[in-house]
Amino acid sequence: MILLLRNISLPLLLIIMLMPQSALSKKADTIDELVAMYDISPCADCHEDKHDEWKTSTMGNSVVDPRVLRGWRTFIKLELDEEETLARKDLTICLNCHVPHIKDASEKLILDIADMVITAVENSDKAKRETAKKELSKLNLNCLGCHNLKATGFNTQPEPGVIYVPNDINTDAHEEAGYKTIKSEFMKTSDFCAQCHHCPPEVPWESCPTLYTTYIEDFINT
Ligand code: HEC
Ligand code: HEC
Ligand code: HEC
Ligand code: HEC
Repeated sequence: MILLLRNISLPLLLIIMLMPQSALSKKADTIDELVAMYDISPCADCHEDKHDEWKTSTMGNSVVDPRVLRGWRTFIKLELDEEETLARKDLTICLNCHVPHIKDASEKLILDIADMVITAVENSDKAKRETAKKELSKLNLNCLGCHNLKATGFNTQPEPGVIYVPNDINTDAHEEAGYKTIKSEFMKTSDFCAQCHHCPPEVPWESCPTLYTTYIEDFINT
C-alpha cells in the first residue's frame, strides 16, 4: 500500500482525499435531482396516513399555495429585479423556510425556479402556467425538512441519513430501511416551530412581532 502511494503525486493524492467531500456537496441542477436527494417515498410507504395528511396541508404545498406563489412573484419583480443589492439568486431568502432542502440547489436551479414562479403566476398561456405549477409542486416542506434539516435548531448541523423523532420508539423498522434514528427533545419545543414562524435569533425581539412573540409574552410569561 505504502509503495503504491509513493507512485501517486501529492496533488493527485489530495484530489482523491477531497473527493468524497466534493461528491457530498454536489448541488442539484434540476428539481427532480433535488427531490431525489431528499426522497420521502420510503417515509410515505410506511407512514401512509401521515403522508396523506401532509400532502394536502399548507406545508405539503408551501410553494404552490396560490398566496405564496403570488407573494413570491411580487418579491421577485419588485425587490429582486429592482434592488441593486439583490438578484434573483437571492430567492433563497424565501426558499429557506418554505423548502429547507433548497440549501443543496445550484444557483442555476434557483434561477430556473424564479422563472417558473413568474410563468406559473402570469403567463398568458394556461397550459404553460399549469406545467410550471406542476413542476413547482414537487418542492415543499417535506418530512426530512422537519425530521432532519430543522430538527436540531439554529447553528447546529444535523447528521445526514438520520430521522430525528420526538419520542422513544422502537427503531428497528428505520434501521432495516437504512436510517439511523435519534431522539430530538428540541422537536417538542415551540422554538422548533419558531425557526420558521419567527425571525432568526440575531434579529432583536422587538423588531419581530409574530404569533410566536405573542405566545411567549402573553401565554408563557404571564
Ligand atoms: C423564517 C422563515 C420564512 C422565510 C424566510 C419566508 N417565509 Fe413565507 N412563510 C413562512 C411561514 C411560517 C408561513 C406561514 C405563516 C402563516 O400562514 O401563519 C409563510 C407564509 C407565506 C405566505 C402566505 C401567507 C401570507 O402571509 O400571505 C407568503 C405569500 C409568503 N410566505 C411569502 C414569502 C416571501 C416572498 C418570502 C421571501 C421574501 C418568504 N415568504 C420568506 C416562513 C417564512
Ligand atoms: C413542519 C414540520 C414537520 C413536517 C413537515 C413533518 N413532521 Fe412529522 N412531526 C413533526 C413534529 C414537531 C412532531 C412531534 C409532534 C408532537 O410531539 O406532538 C412530528 C411527529 C411525527 C410522527 C409521530 C407522532 C405522530 O403524530 O404520529 C410521525 C410518525 C411523523 N411525524 C412522520 C412524518 C412524516 C412521514 C412526514 C412527511 C410526510 C412528516 N412527519 C412531516 C414535524 C413535522
Ligand atoms: C420500513 C418502514 C419505515 C420507514 C421507511 C420509515 N418509518 Fe418512520 N417509523 C416506522 C415505524 C414502524 C415506527 C414506529 C416505531 C414505534 O412506534 O416504536 C416509526 C416511527 C416514526 C416516527 C415517530 C417517532 C415518535 O417519536 O413517535 C417518526 C417521526 C418517523 N417514523 C418518521 C419517519 C420519516 C421522516 C421517514 C422517512 C425519512 C420514515 N419514518 C421512514 C417505520 C418506518
Ligand atoms: C421548516 C420551516 C417550518 C417549521 C419548522 C414549521 N413550519 Fe409551520 N409552516 C411553514 C411554512 C413555510 C408554512 C406556510 C405554507 C403555506 O402558506 O403554503 C407553514 C404553515 C403553518 C400553518 C398553517 C398556517 C396557515 O396560514 O394555513 C400552521 C398552523 C403551522 N405552520 C404551524 C406550525 C407548528 C405548530 C410548527 C411546530 C410544530 C411548525 N409550523 C413548524 C414552515 C414551517
